[in-house]
Amino acid sequence: MELIHVIMDIVVPPIILISLLIAIPLNLINNLVSFIQRSFSLEDLSGKVVLITGASSGIGEFLAYAYAKKGARLVLVARRENRLREVADKAKKHGSPDVLVCAADVSKVEDCKRFVQDAIDHFGCLDHLVNNAGVTSGYTFEDTTDITTPMNLMNVNFWGSVYPTHFAVPHLRKSKGKIVVIASLASWLYSPQMIFYGASKAAMMNFFETLRVELGSAVKITIVSPGFIESEMTQGKHLTNDGSMQVDPEKRDSLVGMFPVRGGFECAKTIVHGVRRGDRNITDPSWFRILYICKVFVSEVVEWFFSVLFVPQPGVTENSTLTKRILDFTGMKKYIYPASIDSSADVKKK
Ligand SMILES: NC(=O)c1ccc[n+]([C@@H]2O[C@H](COP(=O)([O-])OP(=O)(O)OC[C@H]3O[C@@H](n4cnc5c(N)ncnc54)[C@H](OP(=O)(O)O)[C@@H]3O)[C@@H](O)[C@H]2O)c1
Repeated sequence: MELIHVIMDIVVPPIILISLLIAIPLNLINNLVSFIQRSFSLEDLSGKVVLITGASSGIGEFLAYAYAKKGARLVLVARRENRLREVADKAKKHGSPDVLVCAADVSKVEDCKRFVQDAIDHFGCLDHLVNNAGVTSGYTFEDTTDITTPMNLMNVNFWGSVYPTHFAVPHLRKSKGKIVVIASLASWLYSPQMIFYGASKAAMMNFFETLRVELGSAVKITIVSPGFIESEMTQGKHLTNDGSMQVDPEKRDSLVGMFPVRGGFECAKTIVHGVRRGDRNITDPSWFRILYICKVFVSEVVEWFFSVLFVPQPGVTENSTLTKRILDFTGMKKYIYPASIDSSADVKKK
């Protein structure tokens, strides 16, 4: 039996490499032609029913306004009902004809079943499911005191996307609808101190890439990898190693550092445009895509870069990463972070 693998080791790599020389240019041409065709046939969202989880703040809230501007009817889901009602009122002003608010916890399967059913009862169909609700962590693996604590994060980020998808797919099949997944660059890029967050997003990424294979063209899936975007998360909201939610701009500075933070509305506009065009993947800001190539070809250099800049060094406080010290020393924060994320006054810790 071992012989077959010896032969495969010798034969398969050169055959694949030679095939790639032909396949890559053909694939590039095919993608370009498809991109041009899709750019001229954007989906009309007026009257479409769009369910957004995590719509009470940040990217989800901005997505609600971007969809509303295109005339979509909305189902807004999150735990803070008062915030959802404010978003719903604004979404109507932006042009949404009807908005349903559902207070729910995406980590609870019964809640997910209920809000999908509420959407169907109210609107009669579902066209887009946007899996956006999420939380981040802000501590290293070795700072983990109870190793079961990060399960909560996995329950929100991973299962909180899988549960709604389970209940929504039969309805999305009927409407030939779409699933939009707000993953993260952290699903493939190293994110020290956000190690459990990155793992949850990698799980999400793999799940939805595989689901795309299973569903084929019946339900299209767009996976979004945002960089750092204006939201409560980039105001410093994160889970600590004891499982409590904190808002700490100092921690945010040590995690985000010298990476510029993008405006939420610009990001949402890019996402909705890409979804209407039927993009499979969206990275926003798009310049982050080059880092993927770096990771593939010079992974040791990228590893070193993130280790030096983002790992707290022994003997200094956990927030004193090199990237934060450069940020503080140069005073560049006011040029690369939106002013709105400087105030954490109205961020609730829930
Ligand atoms: N901001 C960034 O830089 C960035 C970058 C990459 C990816 N992302 C992803 O973008 C998504 C949105 O995050 P954000 O940056 O906009 O942060 P955010 O402002 O903190 O928004 C998170 C949203 O998720 C909701 N949520 C959290 N736990 C929930 C639960 N158990 N059940 C229901 N809803 C829950 C929150 O609402 P309630 O608290 O009211 O429930 C809130 O609406 C997340 O998946 C995040 O991982 C963000």
